[in-house]
Amino acid sequence: MSNEHNFQIQIAEKSFGWQEKEIKRKLQAGSIYLTASSIDSDSMINEEYRLKVDPKSIIAIGGTSAGVFYAIQSLQQIIKEQGPTKLKVPCVTINDKPRFQWRAFMLDEGRYFKGEKVVKDLLDEMALLKMNTFHWHLTDDQGWRIEIKKYPKLTEVGSKRKMSEIGYWLSNKFDSTEHSGYYTQDQIKDIIKYAADRYITIVPEIEMPGHASAAIASYPWLGSQDTLIEVPTRFGIQLNVYNVASPRLNQFIHDVLDEIMRLFPSQIIHIGGDEVKYDQWKRSAEINEYMKRNNIVSYADLQISFTNSISNYLEQKNHRMMGWNEILGWHNQNNDSLDARAQQKLSSNVIIHFWTGDPQIINRAVEKGYDVVNSYWEYTYLDYDYKTTPLQKAYSFDPIPDTLAVHLRSKILGLGCQMWGEWIPTVQRMNYQVCPHIAAYAETGWTERSNKKYDRFRNSLSAYLIKYWRKRGIEILPEQEQ
Ligand code: ACM
Repeated sequence: MSNEHNFQIQIAEKSFGWQEKEIKRKLQAGSIYLTASSIDSDSMINEEYRLKVDPKSIIAIGGTSAGVFYAIQSLQQIIKEQGPTKLKVPCVTINDKPRFQWRAFMLDEGRYFKGEKVVKDLLDEMALLKMNTFHWHLTDDQGWRIEIKKYPKLTEVGSKRKMSEIGYWLSNKFDSTEHSGYYTQDQIKDIIKYAADRYITIVPEIEMPGHASAAIASYPWLGSQDTLIEVPTRFGIQLNVYNVASPRLNQFIHDVLDEIMRLFPSQIIHIGGDEVKYDQWKRSAEINEYMKRNNIVSYADLQISFTNSISNYLEQKNHRMMGWNEILGWHNQNNDSLDARAQQKLSSNVIIHFWTGDPQIINRAVEKGYDVVNSYWEYTYLDYDYKTTPLQKAYSFDPIPDTLAVHLRSKILGLGCQMWGEWIPTVQRMNYQVCPHIAAYAETGWTERSNKKYDRFRNSLSAYLIKYWRKRGIEILPEQEQ
C-alpha cells in the first residue's frame, strides 16, 4: 500500500446482506475486510472470490469461506517485500474462480512412509496453489500405512519390509535396511483437521483387489493362494490378489471401509483397482467354483462384480466409490483377450480415475454416464524425469479431451497429479520431483484454458514460487528452472 496503514483484519460476523458499497462505508481506513456473507457472494460459486485492493482498504468476498481463503492466498502472492519489515500491495481488483472442482495431488506412502510433517508441508503447498483434494495412497504391496483397530496386524506386520529394491525397475539391487511406518488414527484425525483448515479434502485410497500384498502378508487368509508371503521388497506389479470369493475377505473389506468412513469426512473413497493380475485367480479352485456358481464368465468380470459389491456397500453408507480406469474392464494388465472383454457393467455412480490406456477410454466412460478425473500418466505422473515430462509438457496438459462433445465436458471433474514413491525414498528427492511441476497442474486445475500462457507461468515461477520453495529449503536445481 502506498500510505502506511496498520492493517486490522475485520471479520464482521453480523454483516449478512452487506453490499460492497456498504462494506466500504463501514470500513475504517486501513482495514482488511473478509466476508463470505455479503449480497455479492450469493451469485458466486463455492470457491469463487473477489479481491479488491485500493489505497485505503482490502476487501475479499468469497462465495463461501473457501473463496475467502483463496482470496487470502492470492493476496499473499501479490504482496511484495519492501525491505525486512515493510510490505507493499498493488491496487488491484481480481475476480476469480476455479475451472475444475477436482484439483488433486496424490502422495503414495505405500512404498515409502513420509510422516506427518512432510504431509503437512505438502498440504501448505497445495493450499497456496489453491488445490483442494489430497489423494492419499495409504496401502500398497510394499506397505500398509494406516492403523485399522480391528486388524492390528495390518500395521504390526504390513507396515514393515526387510529391505527395498533401489535404483530403478528390475534393478534387482537392494538396500540393507528395514523400512517401516504408519499413521495412528489419532495422527490421521490431526492431519484431516490440518487439511480442512486449508479447505482441502483428503480422499483416502485403500487398494483392492490387487496391490494388496502387505495386507495378505499380515493375514494370509485374505489371499488367493495357500503359500505364505512376506511384505514384498521388490517394486513392480505383484501377483498377490485378494480372494474375492471368500465371505471372510468381504467382511474384512467392509470392516476396513467402516473404519475409513468413520475417520475421513470425504464422501468419496478411492479403492484403487489398478494393475490386477489374474494368475492366482486362474489357479484357485475356490475362485473358479465361485465364478461358475455366479455365472461370471471372465476374470475381468469377476473384478467388476467384486468392485460393484464394494461400490454398493459404500453407497448404502452414503459414500461414493472412485477407482483407477481398469475397474471399467476395458483395459487391463492381462494380455489374455478374453479377460479384456468384460461383460458386466460397472456401477454407474463410480468416479473413473483415468491414468492409462487409450485416452478414448475417457470419452467412452463419459458417454456411458461416468464422471471422470483425468490423471493421464504421460502428463501428470510426478515420478518421471524431465525428459519424459518436461515442465512445458506438464503445463500443456488439458483434462478435457478435444474430441469430447461440448455438452459432456462437465463430466470431467478435474485432474490429479501423482507422486508415486517406488524410487523416491527421501523427502529431498520427493520435493525435487514435485516442484515445480505441481504448480503447472495447480494452474491447469484453476485457470481457464484461454488464460493459460506458458511464458507468464514461467515468469511467475521465477518471480515468486521458486524463491518461496528455496526459502522452505526445497532444492531447486537448474534443470527445474528451465
Ligand atoms: C497406477 O499408476 N498404477 C495407477
